[in-house]
Amino acid sequence: MKLQLYVPDGRYDPWIAGFAEALPEAQCVTWEDSRGEPADYAVVWRPPIDMLRGRTDLKAVFNLGAGVDGILRLRDEDPQALPAGVPIVRLDDAGMAAQMAEYVTSAVLRYFRRLDDYAAQAQAGKWKFLKPHRREDFTIGVMGIGTLGTHIARTLAGFGFPVRGWSRTARAVEGVVGFHGDAGRAPFLDGLRVLVNVLPLTPQTENILNGELFGKLAQGAYVINVARGQHLVEADLLAAVQAGQVAGATLDVFRAEPLPAEHPFWQEPRITITPHISALTLREDSIAQIAGKIRALRAGQPIAGVVDLQRGY
Ligand code: NAP
Ligand code: GLV
Repeated sequence: MKLQLYVPDGRYDPWIAGFAEALPEAQCVTWEDSRGEPADYAVVWRPPIDMLRGRTDLKAVFNLGAGVDGILRLRDEDPQALPAGVPIVRLDDAGMAAQMAEYVTSAVLRYFRRLDDYAAQAQAGKWKFLKPHRREDFTIGVMGIGTLGTHIARTLAGFGFPVRGWSRTARAVEGVVGFHGDAGRAPFLDGLRVLVNVLPLTPQTENILNGELFGKLAQGAYVINVARGQHLVEADLLAAVQAGQVAGATLDVFRAEPLPAEHPFWQEPRITITPHISALTLREDSIAQIAGKIRALRAGQPIAGVVDLQRGY
């Protein structure tokens, strides 16, 4: 059995060592060293266009992340870019849900407890009590109640916040008021104090965080984007922050990454920027999950996380 790996940073050694341990029956090779050779499985993150095109040898393509937009976007360049009939399998949690819940909860609590305001006061040597926000007025909406969003929503509900979730199809999560589909969008957004985006990037969700949406949130709402930069119309967020409609934002993902030095977000103190770290791919967890799925496939068993190519996630 042969596994062909592609990681954009070219740091293959730990991956090859990890797969050698988790799946000793497999030979693990890099894409660069094995171009044109057949393999049984590809394990990739944002692969180049010529890696998968026309392949008839692969039994599955494993994506080293939860979001598969980096693979599916290849179809925009060439409709034949993906191997026909080969399942694309995404990471299913693999240690990301806990990281996302930590990241989002810390951003919510920082805003809820006014810690940025106190930090600014401390900078000015000012000792001053600020009116606290009321938990019961602080409704939080999570867009995308899937693997990651469900864990985020449950964690926030555990802090006693009123939490709403929005998905494509109806989802029941204990302690979370569910909305779904186009009809559920307006009531989901209505009056939210915090909006968290953890949707996959698809043609339906691109640019979903825009001025029209911000106008439906409570005045002075807070926006947290941990999904993809292409979900956000960046100029609309800046305008909404400058107008006071949005109080601030925590952004982990951007249209251009790294965020260019001249980008106006860097100059806006109400926008907190992190470099796409809200849920990192954990190597050991990911290798263990992929090795388990390869074993299941070889035993003819079903696996979770197979991407629906029509739906786009
Ligand atoms: P998932 O399990 O597939 O969940 C996706 C959720 O979004 C589902 O609830 C789905 O609805 C909903 N959804 C999809 N399209 C929709 C639409 N048009 N309208 C309403 N709801 C829609 O995905 P996941 O594992 O939670 O990951 C979500 C995303 O997080 C990834 O795609 C990736 O972009 C991002 N991510 C970012 C980082 C980071 O470090 N920043 C790390 C990991 C992942 P249904 O439940 O009805 O299907
Ligand atoms: C990271 O962004 C992922 O999709 O896993």
